[in-house]
Amino acid sequence: MAILKPLIILLALLLWQSCFAQLSYTGAYGGYPHCEACHASGSPDMDQFTEWHLTSHAAAYDDHPELQNDDACLPCHTTGWDVALNNGGFDDFFYAGDTTGMNSMRNVQCESCHGPTAYPHTSSPIIDHGAELCGQCHNQEFSAYYDEWAASAHHGDPAEHELECAKCHEAASAAHFLDTGEALASLPDEQIWEITCAVCHTSHDPELNDYQLRLWPAERTCRSCHTADGATVGEVPHSPQAEMLIGPGAAYEWPGYWYNNSCHEMYLPEPCVMCHQWPEMYANPDTVSTGHALQPDILFCAGNGCHAGQIPPDSSFNIAGIFEEMDSLIVTLDSLLQLADTTRIEYWQAKYDYDFVVNDGSRGVHNYFYARDLLISSIEGIIPWLVVEGRDYGMTTPDTYVLHPAHPNPFNPVTWIAYELPVAGQVRLDVYDIAGRNVRTLVDGWKGVGSHVVEFTAAGLASGVYVYHLEAGSYRDVRKMVLMR
Ligand code: HEC
Ligand code: HEC
Ligand code: HEC
Ligand code: HEC
Ligand code: HEC
Ligand code: HEC
Ligand code: HEC
Ligand code: HEC
Repeated sequence: MAILKPLIILLALLLWQSCFAQLSYTGAYGGYPHCEACHASGSPDMDQFTEWHLTSHAAAYDDHPELQNDDACLPCHTTGWDVALNNGGFDDFFYAGDTTGMNSMRNVQCESCHGPTAYPHTSSPIIDHGAELCGQCHNQEFSAYYDEWAASAHHGDPAEHELECAKCHEAASAAHFLDTGEALASLPDEQIWEITCAVCHTSHDPELNDYQLRLWPAERTCRSCHTADGATVGEVPHSPQAEMLIGPGAAYEWPGYWYNNSCHEMYLPEPCVMCHQWPEMYANPDTVSTGHALQPDILFCAGNGCHAGQIPPDSSFNIAGIFEEMDSLIVTLDSLLQLADTTRIEYWQAKYDYDFVVNDGSRGVHNYFYARDLLISSIEGIIPWLVVEGRDYGMTTPDTYVLHPAHPNPFNPVTWIAYELPVAGQVRLDVYDIAGRNVRTLVDGWKGVGSHVVEFTAAGLASGVYVYHLEAGSYRDVRKMVLMR
């Protein structure tokens, strides 16, 4: 008897189906057998109805009386609506005046995303990770998520389909990875999508939260992929944003230095989301309203945000200065690496730090102190002649202005000039020939507190003596160097 029971049900189902040869939407609450009949079993694999029922899709119609008599609202707030069909929009229920049929179609039910599904499934229901699926309703006019997502870097080619890459770069694998912590075996080509809505969001979330996110708190979503952990491409630290934010301990740290943590990690409860995706906080009403383009608005930091009132150059916060400083340190380290002896361990240590900072991609914003200290210690690490004796790094700042001798000197044709600033400010560094003609301006802009190094390439200049002149605040100093070809 126990074996017969399911058989009888199956027979009944088949009979029921044969009466309705045409596919019909029955939805979660529709005519039997609806999805709930099987997909609310309580087992983790067959619990989708129970989970869906907790999401706002399950109340997209019920919760909003104002839209219930307005045809214009139904396409996105109910299931199965298609204006092209004859019967008032629903293909199997007559809508106009038929509230009973209408009610069985209400809300964004299973079939909105899975298509008209046959029971028992004679063919697999559609499983679609594409953003277009969600974009049918979450689009510009009512809900700009799709459009903003499409403008973000998450909308692009999935980089590689190899297993180890796919878990962060391809939608179905990434969804599986975020759920289980494991990569998904390779997929057929037609199931390869970029990072879409269904990667971060789920319509079936066991730990349901306000945003229907796969991982909660929201911060965990970003950090699962934006980490160097598990993403080794060669020996290079790949997407190390999470590590950069956490700070000391992540990159190669040179002995004798003290590395700072980031205030952003300490004081922002959800750093990635708060800077990159908090619509209320960062929205430019003309362009952004959902934050899904992930564009951080740096002007906000100094405008109404945490750094409000800190107007440069009176303060430690000068975003343009930070970018300029970081860019010049990156360029300097890059050129030093190209000259360095690649057989030395110091080269690889400095190279690691260089890749770490460059691949973080924030030009120091994520963790200014850490990124800057790494670059400076690496520069000094591979050119020991630039090490400033007795200098105390870390939280302390230089006591006085210093203009160091150029190294090497004499030189041909490249040398480096280091200087230190006890306070941030406008800096100018010029090179003159022996006749007093200005041959090069090496620095002209805002620079932060601390040591700085600048490269000088004497291309096109004749051998001879040159002087370089530093001007910072009321400080002036001048030194000599010799170009010997
Ligand atoms: C008669 C029981 C039954 C009904 C009714 C039913 N399903 Fe299923 N469904 C199943 C079973 C069994 C599986 C297979 C689970 C497995 O393979 O792990 C399944 C699998 C699925 C899958 C996954 C397919 C895949 O390729 O992995 C989806 C999506 C799905 N059902 C959607 C629906 C939707 C939507 C409805 C309602 C419109 C529905 N089902 C109604 C029993 C049912
Ligand atoms: C093109 C699809 C679409 C149409 C048409 C549409 N909506 Fe929506 N609506 C959505 C989506 C998607 C959301 C949820 C996402 C969001 O909050 O941006 C939503 C959310 C809502 C909400 C909830 C807002 C909240 O903050 O909880 C209300 C109320 C609403 N819509 C009313 C209407 C009314 C009234 C109409 C008809 C005049 C309508 N919608 C037409 C797609 C649509
Ligand atoms: C808003 C769109 C949406 C709705 C509504 C929706 N699903 Fe899904 N469903 C998806 C997506 C996307 C996936 C694949 C990604 C994932 O695993 O979450 C999926 C996966 C599934 C799977 C595969 C197994 C699993 O859990 O990953 C089943 C079964 C399923 N859905 C059943 C249902 C049923 C039953 C309903 C209605 C109660 C429903 N879905 C409502 C979008 C939706
Ligand atoms: C048939 C139209 C439709 C489709 C398709 C659809 N949605 Fe929605 N979605 C809505 C509506 C309408 C709401 C608003 C429900 C409400 O607030 O009452 C909503 C709400 C949401 C919310 C919750 C917003 C909140 O404030 O609670 C999320 C997240 C969401 N949708 C994500 C998705 C994702 C991801 C997909 C694709 C897998 C998707 N939706 C597909 C219509 C749709
Ligand atoms: C742990 C997650 C993770 C893994 C694994 C991973 N990546 Fe990435 N990858 C990312 C993230 C996040 C970004 C974007 C952040 C950034 O630009 O720093 C990215 C960026 C990239 C980019 C740059 C894209 C661009 O347009 O700038 C390439 C190329 C790339 N990855 C290739 C690969 C390859 C090839 C593999 C496998 C060998 C791989 N990734 C493995 C997370 C990962
Ligand atoms: C990279 C991950 C990611 C992707 C991809 C993504 N989202 Fe989101 N989404 C989030 C996070 C994180 C939040 C919560 C933001 C917050 O905390 O302010 C969110 C919030 C939302 C909300 C709820 C907003 C609210 O106020 O209730 C909706 C609706 C939504 N997303 C829809 C979409 C749709 C539709 C797509 C695809 C076009 C999409 N998302 C793609 C991560 C993502
Ligand atoms: C499933 C993995 C994954 C998740 C989750 C994820 N990202 Fe990404 N993200 C990527 C990949 C991969 C890229 C690079 C895409 C490309 O360039 O092809 C990227 C690119 C980016 C970029 C642009 C980088 C560039 O080089 O232009 C930003 C900014 C970003 N992600 C922020 C976030 C934030 C904020 C979150 C959390 C809400 C998040 N990401 C969640 C994988 C992910
Ligand atoms: C204090 C605010 C802040 C925090 C916290 C923050 N970001 Fe950023 N992030 C920025 C800014 C500003 C930039 C862009 C710098 C620029 O304009 O070049 C950026 C750049 C990026 C980039 C590179 C974009 C590109 O075009 O190459 C990625 C990827 C990224 N952030 C991801 C993340 C992730 C993931 C987190 C959390 C682990 C995070 N960010 C935390 C502000 C922040």
